[in-house]
Amino acid sequence: MSSPGPDPEPESEAVFPPGFFDRADPTPDTEFYAWPRIVTHIDDAAIAAVGVLYEELGLDGAVLDLMGSWVSHFRTTPAHLTVLGLNADELARNHQAAAAVVHDCNRTPGLPFGAAAFDAATCCVSVDYLTRPLEVFDDVARVLRPGAPFVCTFSNRCFPTKAIRGWLATDDDGHLAIVAAYFRLASGFTEPVALQVTPPGHRGDPLFAVWARRAG
Ligand SMILES: C[S@@+](CC[C@H](N)C(=O)[O-])C[C@H]1O[C@@H](n2cnc3c(N)ncnc32)[C@H](O)[C@@H]1O
Repeated sequence: MSSPGPDPEPESEAVFPPGFFDRADPTPDTEFYAWPRIVTHIDDAAIAAVGVLYEELGLDGAVLDLMGSWVSHFRTTPAHLTVLGLNADELARNHQAAAAVVHDCNRTPGLPFGAAAFDAATCCVSVDYLTRPLEVFDDVARVLRPGAPFVCTFSNRCFPTKAIRGWLATDDDGHLAIVAAYFRLASGFTEPVALQVTPPGHRGDPLFAVWARRAG
């Protein structure tokens, strides 16, 4: 009688090598983000590009801004914007937000919202800090309505001690591939779109985006 072969390697382990999600600073994120940073993390042109992208994608209704702060970059404020992040003071200063939620996505990837609660979700210049991204993406799919988009945008800078090693080890194209892989490996998304939003040769902070829609 032949014995069964080894369990197939989970798909995520095949894509992301050991240590990929480690960080130089493994202390709780609540400590790093304990003090409000009332700053912008990308330049004005990149911020404007985020707003244009959101407008082109028609983000409105009940929108979740994941890993948010005091600015959410919408050209027109959505009907009901919920901003989720780690610093209550930053979130309280977000004039576009109708609701603010303090929640650590690395400690608890499950989001504190009901199923199909949102018409869209965004995550701006923060996806590189997720240590359990597939669980978070799974749960973003859960809280989105069918057809609703999840839009991740990022540039080429970060807090390096808090970004995952896999992100720091690669370049812009690698970052697009990483976020696209999150969408593909998570449950419940359509095939992602991944692109450089700012034109090649753009002076200033480049902007990249990867998005997909809740399947079904
Ligand atoms: C570089 S800032 C970007 C803020 C905002 N999205 C923007 O576009 O300016 C990173 C944000 O991610 C949030 N963040 C970092 N780690 C987090 C975590 N584990 N759970 C939830 N939010 C987190 C922080 O609160 C911080 O506001």
